[in-house]
Amino acid sequence: MLVSGAAGAVGSVVGQIAKIKGCKVIGIAGGKDKCDYLLNELGFDAAIDYKNESLRKEIKRNCPDGIDVYFDNVGGQTLDHALANLRINARIVICGAISQYNSQQVEGPKNYLSLLVNRASMKGMVIFDYEPQYEQARAQMSKWIKDGKLKTKEDVYEGIDNFYEVFLKLFSGDKLGKLILKIIK
Ligand SMILES: NC(=O)c1ccc[n+]([C@@H]2O[C@H](COP(=O)([O-])OP(=O)(O)OC[C@H]3O[C@@H](n4cnc5c(N)ncnc54)[C@H](OP(=O)(O)O)[C@@H]3O)[C@@H](O)[C@H]2O)c1
Repeated sequence: MLVSGAAGAVGSVVGQIAKIKGCKVIGIAGGKDKCDYLLNELGFDAAIDYKNESLRKEIKRNCPDGIDVYFDNVGGQTLDHALANLRINARIVICGAISQYNSQQVEGPKNYLSLLVNRASMKGMVIFDYEPQYEQARAQMSKWIKDGKLKTKEDVYEGIDNFYEVFLKLFSGDKLGKLILKIIK
């Protein structure tokens, strides 16, 4: 299982749940510190530093038999590299495409024919569709956190006046875990 944005709020939880469910998990994140966090604190099997390593080479090296599941938070070229390394019947979950949110022209996947060749599927996922299961998820995740199986990190800032600077951290990656801006009266 490959996940991008792996050190972020969504990606870090996705990767850890996949580990709990018995998958081999490879995370993609920006920078050595985030990759060390994935390996040493979250128990990922491998981490790819997309800012300093070749995604093409590292995905191939870490997934020699191809990718079964790719959970995409990033889109753009990362999605294309994943598409180029699919296994037969692979599944891609499109959760987000943060590399494209500020683009004038969104970069679509060039390697989409890999879906055909590998009988693979790519599907969008929006959290609000799962509202009836929120309670069940909350209970399960609380238990995993209590049992030490699921780790969470929050990067908390204060004050609405800091909204602009804090919001931009989502794009620069200058944060670890869930980015929170506390509104104080
Ligand atoms: N479908 C849904 O229901 C749903 C719900 C919530 C969020 N989302 C989406 O899920 C994704 C993750 O959200 P999150 O709240 O967990 O944010 P996050 O991962 O905590 O923060 C965003 C991270 O994206 C990475 N990033 C930013 N620009 C990038 C680029 N150009 N290329 C590659 N990576 C880049 C940065 O990490 P690095 O330092 O590793 O670069 C940054 O820390 C977003 O795309 C968001 O829109 C979807």
